[in-house]
Order: sequence, then structure tokens, then C-alpha cells
Amino acid sequence: MKHSQDLNEDVAEVLLSEDQIRVKVTELGKRISADYAGRELTLVSVLKGSLPFMADLMRQIDLPLRIDLMEVSSYGGTATESSGLVRILKDLSAPIDGRDVLLVEDIIDTGLTLNYLLRYLRGKNPRSIKVCSLLDKPARRLVEIPIDYVGFEIPDAFVVGYGLDFGEVYRNLRFVGVLRPEAYES
Ligand code: PRP
Repeated sequence: MKHSQDLNEDVAEVLLSEDQIRVKVTELGKRISADYAGRELTLVSVLKGSLPFMADLMRQIDLPLRIDLMEVSSYGGTATESSGLVRILKDLSAPIDGRDVLLVEDIIDTGLTLNYLLRYLRGKNPRSIKVCSLLDKPARRLVEIPIDYVGFEIPDAFVVGYGLDFGEVYRNLRFVGVLRPEAYES
């Protein structure tokens, strides 16, 4: 895979602009703040893709909250397909038993990663556990999982930016865009 020096040149189409994302993240933060009013929240984000979303979302939530970070990788998948077998590279730093947990993801694709993580985290006896994902790609779903807060439903296109990568590049784009096939086919 060969990316251009100017990453914008590899983007065929801007799917979600910086402004659209900002408005949506603000809206999600308001909903979450209202739904959990009077409680404390633990946001658990899954590295690395959800990093920008987590950073923006937490600042739109008006509640006492703590954050924790996990990192997982899927065994035997490819750059574009997850395998469903998940390996934990970085676990939670603190216990979540008795806590209201909101799992923050950048994208739900097949749902296999989330399915694994939810079972894993439920085993740690949180008071509640819900899911917030910026993007949802329902066309590729293999396991049905309720997503409590969704930013945008998107078509089955190869998207990068605002945390999402191809070959670890493009995460720093401020928008979500569709990658030109030339950028991943070579
Ligand atoms: C992405 C995303 C989810 C997962 C979703 O992570 O952040 O964790 O894939 O795919 P699924 O629904 O098909 O399981 P990725 O493995 O690309 O790692 P990254 O966040 O470090 O880019």
C-alpha cells in the first residue's frame, strides 16, 4: 500500500465533514449526560481508532466521569477484515464492578470485536454497560448487538479519518472519507 504525501489526495469523497462530526458528538454528549443524570460514568475506549472520538465526546459530557483504555487486536484477520478472535493487548487499569460503563468505539463493522468485549466486560460485574459508536456499518454485521448510541450509519465503503486507519495511516484526518481504491489495491 502506498499513501500520498498529501493524505487528502487518497480520499475519493468526504463522507462526514469536520462540522457534521462536531455537531453529532455534541448531540451524543447531551443525550448521554441526560440519560445518566445524577450518576457517575466510566468511559472505556478501545484503542486506537476511537481515540479522537473519545477525546471529543468526553468533553461534551457534563457528568463526573472516569476513563479507561483497552487495546485489542484480532487474530488472523486482514487489514480490512476482522476474524472474530480477539486478543487483549491492553486491559483495563481499574476495576469496573458496580460502575456504569459506556464502551466507546469508532466503528462497528461485523460486530465481532464488540461482541467479545461486551462479554468480557460483563464478566467484571459492572452496574450497567452500554455502547456508543460514532459509526455503524450494518451491511457487514455478523452478530446482532444492540448499540445504544450511534453517531452515523454509513454504507459499506472503506472509510478512513477521525481515528480510522488503513495500514495505520490516515487516523489524523479531521473528517471521515472514503479511500480511493488505488490507495489500498496497490
Ligand atoms: C476497528 C474498530 C473496532 C473494530 C470493529 O478496530 O475500532 O474495534 O475494528 O470491527 P468489527 O465490528 O468487524 O469487529 P481495528 O481492529 O481496526 O483497530 P484500531 O482501532 O487500532 O484501528
